[in-house]
Amino acid sequence: MVDAYELFAELPKAELHLHIEGSFEPELMFEIARRNQVSIPYASVEELRKAYDFGNLQDFLDIYYQGMSVLLRERDFYDLTWAYLTRVNEDNVRHVEIFFDPQGHTERGVSFETAIIGIHRALEDGKAKLGISYKLIMSYLRHLSEESALETLEQAKPFLDWIDGVGLDSSEMGHPPSKFKTVFAESKKLGLKLVAHAGEEGPPAYVYEALDDIQVDRIDHGNRALEDDGLVKRIVEGGYTLTVCPLSNLKLCGVTDMKDHPLPKMLELGLRATVNSDDPAYFGGYVNQNFKAVHDAQPLSAADAVTLAKNSFSGSFLSAQEKASWLGLIDEQAAEMGATA
Ligand code: ADE
Ligand code: ZN
Repeated sequence: MVDAYELFAELPKAELHLHIEGSFEPELMFEIARRNQVSIPYASVEELRKAYDFGNLQDFLDIYYQGMSVLLRERDFYDLTWAYLTRVNEDNVRHVEIFFDPQGHTERGVSFETAIIGIHRALEDGKAKLGISYKLIMSYLRHLSEESALETLEQAKPFLDWIDGVGLDSSEMGHPPSKFKTVFAESKKLGLKLVAHAGEEGPPAYVYEALDDIQVDRIDHGNRALEDDGLVKRIVEGGYTLTVCPLSNLKLCGVTDMKDHPLPKMLELGLRATVNSDDPAYFGGYVNQNFKAVHDAQPLSAADAVTLAKNSFSGSFLSAQEKASWLGLIDEQAAEMGATA
């Protein structure tokens, strides 16, 4: 019988929850800092990695914003995105839907254009040279005001051909989805898909708000939805996808032990859960490693591996035809490896 991890690793898959600034490996961070002549308050790559010890989401975010501050030029954003694509190519990721945080850059004087042009160029190269298709999601920082998010949407207007959706990230507690009702409605009018981090640290009420007040197409994390049976039922019946990030949950103390991670429970409940890496440079693993971390603690079946690979495409923003083609390919490849969903 094929091992579920080997199967998952070999199957084509999509990654639906990835902050490009969270894929910033310390080695590249030091290299870019050197060429931009900016200093990092750590003496070495090792010392920086040692600082990646977080008690909660905010501890991480403080370091994450500090890390991205060395990104100044278009080339920096290109190198960051290209490094991510070449790395996930090794995990057989064939489609990515990545977030970027424009306000994390514009707030410190780097233009929206600089960030998006560099990221877009690398994504196009990834498609041409690695065969990885993509969608780009611009995320609003929820610790900032809705006015700031609306300004960001204005800045995005010349680039709407390159942007597929909008998201909501950063400090969840105290910044519920309802705070961003207007900007999400405006984003929807422009034809953008809507997603939001909800239920990562925040209560089930925030997940309800993501569904009711901003009408998301997909929920990022959603772990705490499991505390409310009615909410679980609504997510299952609504066919919403959850972009689950196991190593992130462990590193940010949403779970204290992988043995308690809710992914197997989510699958059992019929939720369309997917496995993702969130901020792999900070949390210690890319997508296959995230699967392995859960599987090592709570063995998943070969059928679970196939389901998770299929969910990653079903939950994507690809067209129905593209999804059908990937699902067929996964079935074929799984059958060749002796597994079915
Ligand atoms: N920004 C980057 N990673 C994040 C996460 N896991 N939650 C909220 N905001 C983020
Ligand atoms: Zn995230």
